[in-house]
Amino acid sequence: MAQERKPVTTVKLQKMKASNEPIAMVTAYDFLSARLADEAGVDMILVGDSLGNVIQGQESTLPVTLDEIIYHTKMVTRAVKSAFVIADMPFMTYHGSLDHTLHNAGRIMREGLAKGIKLEGGAELAPAVKALTLAGVPVVGHLGLTPQSVHVIGGYRVQGKNSEQAGKLLKDAKALQEAGAIAVVLELITEELAEWITKQLSIPTIGIGAGASCDGQVLVFHDMLAYDPDDRRKKFVKVYAEVGRAIRDGFGDYVSDVKSRKFPSESHGFKGDNEVLQYLYGSTLK
Ligand code: KIV
Repeated sequence: MAQERKPVTTVKLQKMKASNEPIAMVTAYDFLSARLADEAGVDMILVGDSLGNVIQGQESTLPVTLDEIIYHTKMVTRAVKSAFVIADMPFMTYHGSLDHTLHNAGRIMREGLAKGIKLEGGAELAPAVKALTLAGVPVVGHLGLTPQSVHVIGGYRVQGKNSEQAGKLLKDAKALQEAGAIAVVLELITEELAEWITKQLSIPTIGIGAGASCDGQVLVFHDMLAYDPDDRRKKFVKVYAEVGRAIRDGFGDYVSDVKSRKFPSESHGFKGDNEVLQYLYGSTLK
């Protein structure tokens, strides 16, 4: 188990960028997973709306509600001692009035006890980012492949591949920084573009499928631990443990032990004292 760490703050994240110390971020959605990630030394934990896919079995992140994000954020923050916990603002919870956005982010902070929120989008969100920051809500931006816009984008594919798109992504990143964002997630963009953006920002970039030049990396818990042993392996994911296979094997062994009466064995049971045995079995007791 890692030794006690100081809580990671926005100041610490900024210093990590300045001193070129990579930021390790993962998603987590429940108490024990978050505790393990925190104990392992993860710097940032994201209660991602990817929970729609990996927890709820939905086809996209769109059905995830604010109440569901808050429910999972509560479990995560209950476990975490050091990592900086942020939570995703779900689809359409930050596109109405600024009041609506502030109200929803306020719920994630107040009820979920997150230290910040993440939202998907660029310069068009600068007024929201500014208002949230002024209200005391640290904001992480999210550019490139933005899963909440999958139906506009037309699929989960690499973004920023032509110079017009690349230029727009840089402008968006700068607008988010200008508005007060504390970091920007760059998802599924080319390594060259991620490096270019990273060099021009003073806030950290956190990449997922964006190469090694970002200031940090984020992976989805279930992907990096191969929780679904049959899932197609994504090119940008490195698998660090075959958890899904271990779980399925464990269940298989359990089923076969129960069927063959190998489990429970004597060591798993509790013996009564003689008086109770006499009462239960009387003279049939040998
Ligand atoms: O919801 C999520 O898991 C995310 C990551 C892919 C960054 O937004």
